[in-house]
Amino acid sequence: MSSIPRPILSPVELFGHRLCNRLAVAPMTRVSASVDGLATDRMKRYYCEFARGGFAIVITEGTYTDNDGSQGYDRQPGIANRRQANSWVPIATAISDHGSLAIMQLMHAGALSQKREPGRIIASSHRPPFRRSAK
Ligand SMILES: Cc1cc2nc3c(=O)[nH]c(=O)nc-3n(C[C@H](O)[C@H](O)[C@H](O)COP(=O)(O)O)c2cc1C
Repeated sequence: MSSIPRPILSPVELFGHRLCNRLAVAPMTRVSASVDGLATDRMKRYYCEFARGGFAIVITEGTYTDNDGSQGYDRQPGIANRRQANSWVPIATAISDHGSLAIMQLMHAGALSQKREPGRIIASSHRPPFRRSAK
């Protein structure tokens, strides 16, 4: 049997939560919210797989925070209204029921926002972040 310490698999306390290990799932966009930004059963099944598999922390995908331009793409989940917030409850509950900690990534798409009308983009720069090369 190996005597090498494996801190990644040892418990730790974080923000008052007792975690069974130090494994966390990085946020990964699923593009599987409803068209109006509600979290879905499909997303729940996806996140639960990680919790069931033993990850102590599941960081959910980038989630937009308002209807004024933070959304980056279609079928991105939001937390910009009560219905959207409520749609996350079954996911957070299911992750928690498996003994894991759910953390939501809040995301603002900035200049990549879907609302590209002049004067509507709320970002540090109005310049598109990518420039096409001239041919
Ligand atoms: C399908 C996919 C979706 C992702 N979505 C997000 C996201 O919503 N937010 C984010 O910060 N990073 C996102 N990432 C980046 C990952 O969180 C991670 O940082 C990246 O994949 C690098 O880790 P890796 O080298 O283990 O793949 C995504 C990556 C993938 C592959």
